[in-house]
Amino acid sequence: MFYIAGTGSALPEKVVSNDDLAQFLDTSDEWIYTRTGIHRRHVLTHERLDDLAILSAKRALEDAHTEGKDVDLILCATMRGDTYTPSLACTVAEAIGSHAPAFDLNAACVGVLYAMEIADSFIGTGKANTVLIVSAEAMSKLVDWTDRSTCVLFGDGSGAMVVKRGEGRLAGVLTSDPDTKSIRMPNIEGMNSPYNQIGQEKLAMYMDGGEVYKFAVNAMGHRIEEVCARANLSPADIDWYLPHQANVRIITASLKKYKIDKDKVLLNISECGNMSATSVMVLLDEYAKKGTFKKGDKLLFVAFGGGLTSGAVIINWNKE
Ligand code: ACO
Repeated sequence: MFYIAGTGSALPEKVVSNDDLAQFLDTSDEWIYTRTGIHRRHVLTHERLDDLAILSAKRALEDAHTEGKDVDLILCATMRGDTYTPSLACTVAEAIGSHAPAFDLNAACVGVLYAMEIADSFIGTGKANTVLIVSAEAMSKLVDWTDRSTCVLFGDGSGAMVVKRGEGRLAGVLTSDPDTKSIRMPNIEGMNSPYNQIGQEKLAMYMDGGEVYKFAVNAMGHRIEEVCARANLSPADIDWYLPHQANVRIITASLKKYKIDKDKVLLNISECGNMSATSVMVLLDEYAKKGTFKKGDKLLFVAFGGGLTSGAVIINWNKE
């Protein structure tokens, strides 16, 4: 029911290389790159996540030749905005001069795919014609910088897309395989409630890398098969794969059995690390701006993340 009318992205200025990390962690460029495919990532310093989200949203609107007042719904995929309330979506709404309904959603790294499916439902039921989807993640503020097995994997950033009523989306599939332990980032238990009896869990992202790895390879493979079946396509019919950028080894393993030409699989993990929900957005914007996609190309987004969630969406690239 929708096509992608415009894209945008914004990354923090500061770039941190693997060698920079090795100055304060027991790690190396060789370990990180060979295990994950990551060389460097962008990290927030003086910028707020709000600033990045607003910038990427404005860039997507400009690219779609659309004004803020013409947006009917704003969805922000994030695990944690700068404020619990207002939502990041409302912060963006204020900045672009919109009074549309606006809310955040958290499906971890799959958030943008969930947002695309919500946008499709709003458009399909006549509640919206134009939806602004933003994602922004401050992973550097969620990880424990003394835990070398997680902090080296992530980066910060924001991306956005404007979707409009029309021919484009071919199929989507979303799932959860609930597992509350393998990836966990606790919230603040309470400020100073005299009634609270629950202790504070460690405020840092915990991840069982091995378990997540196994889940990810299976989930990405299954979602690709399911979404292709729903679209009446085979994996070979897809022109471009935009997988969640968590680990090159996961991407390669999950696509292996389909014998996909590796030139069809888009990557930017070496420069950005894992930006959670934002990864596929920044990837999309980067390759759209390079002119990689031609009208009618079939793009397959596939992702997995905390929850555990996973999903895939196929879109015909029909941007004017
Ligand atoms: N530098 C050097 N050594 C390290 C580092 C590091 N940064 N991190 C861990 N090690 C050590 C470990 O301590 C371990 O040492 P030991 O054998 O002495 O115990 C050794 O390296 C091997 O560790 P493994 O965990 O076996 O390494 P593996 O090859 O499995 O790779 C990795 C680890 C990269 C985390 C992998 O499991 C992975 O990518 N998992 C999936 C993670 C993921 O995709 N997360 C994204 C979902 S969450 C989200 O997106 C919000």
